[in-house]
Amino acid sequence: MPTSRLTEARQRLATPAVAAELAAGLAAREAFISPKYLYDALGSRLFEAICELPEYYPTRTEAAIVARYSAEIARAVGPGATLIDLGAGNCAKAAALFPLLHPAQYVAIDIAADFVRDAIARLQQRFPHIEMTALGLDFSSKLDLPDVVRTEKRLFFYPGSSIGNFTPDEARAFLQRLRAACDDDGGLLIGIDLVKDAATLDAAYDDDLGITAAFNLNILRHVNRLIGADFDVLQWEHRGFYNEGESRVEMHLEAMEDLSVSWHGGARDFSAGQRIHTENSYKYRQSLAVGLLEQSGFAATHVWTDPDNWFAFIHARAVPR
Ligand SMILES: C[S@@+](CC[C@H](N)C(=O)[O-])C[C@H]1O[C@@H](n2cnc3c(N)ncnc32)[C@H](O)[C@@H]1O
Repeated sequence: MPTSRLTEARQRLATPAVAAELAAGLAAREAFISPKYLYDALGSRLFEAICELPEYYPTRTEAAIVARYSAEIARAVGPGATLIDLGAGNCAKAAALFPLLHPAQYVAIDIAADFVRDAIARLQQRFPHIEMTALGLDFSSKLDLPDVVRTEKRLFFYPGSSIGNFTPDEARAFLQRLRAACDDDGGLLIGIDLVKDAATLDAAYDDDLGITAAFNLNILRHVNRLIGADFDVLQWEHRGFYNEGESRVEMHLEAMEDLSVSWHGGARDFSAGQRIHTENSYKYRQSLAVGLLEQSGFAATHVWTDPDNWFAFIHARAVPR
């Protein structure tokens, strides 16, 4: 049995800090669960399935940009980087870059610790000459990199527009922490989803097969395991839509009937139609994306986009302190 399944079977409970964060979100007037809890072992696999969906354009659009501009990307970055993959998942995107970037070290970080460790174990066999480390940690509020991570030429890799899960203010603070975590020879390779028509965005986060719905609902089972809650996924429905005024896609879970939920140390009633907010995915205009990097201590050297201008893949260097 793979390590991740073993761990799920052991029904690992949350640390006190995680339990407190989840309880506070569930008890809030407008209930929420952070999107980082979408990724248990099953959630990580469901996200891989989402990336295969025709409606989910970000993964294939970003991959096409990288394939088309691979030589330019390789020149901009140069060899010998310490490639630090933030939210590495199955590490597939970084692996596609290895032959271009020839990193000296690859560091895969993910809150889904077992999933990323399994991925690194497989990847190390394919690329035995690259030094690799998997780190299971939550980077949303701080980034403490252990001594095993080389300090030379740190290149943070943050693809897939995961930056969109933060509000613009949170994103700026996060990027500032990345700048603080590298020397003047550091940089960033980031994928940022751009504003586009609402129908495309609606479909991307509410697909016909219901894979995104399963991904969203699975957060409830993860929360059940983490804090001993008794969510019944059959009582909840997925909602995913573009909120144009906020320039973000929102995912929610909506109660289909009046119901009660309890967890270790708390309980709450939800009436039919009441929602739990589970994810934001902010969409940027290209100029605002570049501005965000500049306000965070980085300077964009290249912005590569697709012919439809749906997605931006950006290399930025650290501005010397
Ligand atoms: C949208 S997926 C992207 C996966 C992959 N990088 C890609 O672009 O296809 C987000 C990944 O980040 C991880 N993640 C989300 N929030 C995190 C956090 N706060 N700390 C560490 N990893 C996180 C998830 O477990 C998941 O693997």
